[in-house]
Amino acid sequence: MNSVSARRSGQEEFDSIIESQEDVTPVVLAAMAQTPNARLREIAASFVRHIHAFAREVKLTEDEYDTGIDLLNRIGQATNDRHNEGILFADAIGLSTLVCLLNNGNAGATETASALLGPFWRMNSPHTANGGSIVRSPTPGAELFVSCQVVDAAGKPVEGVEVDVWQSSPVGLYENQDDSQADMNLRGKFLTDAQGHLGFRSVKPAGYPVPTDGPVGDMLRAQSRHPYRPAHIHFLGFKPGFKTLITQVFVDDDQHLTSDAVFGVTRALIGDYRRHDSGTPPAPDVRAPWYTLDYTFVMEAGDAKLPVPPIK
Ligand SMILES: [Fe+2]
Repeated sequence: MNSVSARRSGQEEFDSIIESQEDVTPVVLAAMAQTPNARLREIAASFVRHIHAFAREVKLTEDEYDTGIDLLNRIGQATNDRHNEGILFADAIGLSTLVCLLNNGNAGATETASALLGPFWRMNSPHTANGGSIVRSPTPGAELFVSCQVVDAAGKPVEGVEVDVWQSSPVGLYENQDDSQADMNLRGKFLTDAQGHLGFRSVKPAGYPVPTDGPVGDMLRAQSRHPYRPAHIHFLGFKPGFKTLITQVFVDDDQHLTSDAVFGVTRALIGDYRRHDSGTPPAPDVRAPWYTLDYTFVMEAGDAKLPVPPIK
């Protein structure tokens, strides 16, 4: 657009003729300066400043630039209804946890019960009666009985919270990754009672490697990093008037507790998965050893908003 037509269209005039590499950043920022949406303008400008500074800092070669573009394309190509490589990439570089902590618990200044969503949440897990089982097909492993309470910031029980639960099997696979499990195995949706309680029966989850057959796997290998996540159960608490709580509770004796490949473990989220070798089991068909987990979630007041499901 020449300067006359730029003025006619009401846009601010800028000169996009570049003399040297130093000119590129201000020219691009000027081109984007008329973005009507103020937040988009701020984010896009900051992104350009940082990614240009990054290229200058490492003196990015053309081969490395090609590799980076190829990585972006492969992340997109590896994403489908059953797998989200984009989220996995954000997880594996710590961006998901950073954004989570920036937006919960006073921007990470105080302990929060929030943790990253991860790539395996499905929107329509089955509604399950409080105390029911989420084992929907034979799943060998130690029995686990989970008892949770949801309270508000003042410690008062919150009734009617819809709590979505999902976890891996004792061999470390989510049902969507494993044809031997029934659809929605180890997934369920519960409603807290008048005391803010919910409970369910399951099996003790195992840690698992994040999928390594895509570009994120290549990155982990190139960085000599193992792909394992410590075992955990995911929870998503939803009730109008409360900020949606997305979190995970980690198994305290897992060998990868201190080296989560996607940096999701915060101190507050290490659960007490207690082993029982004797005593009266919680159900007549249970043999020792079995495990119990008791955990209290605090929900902050705020907007109840569901995330976009990473898979269908
Ligand atoms: Fe997970």
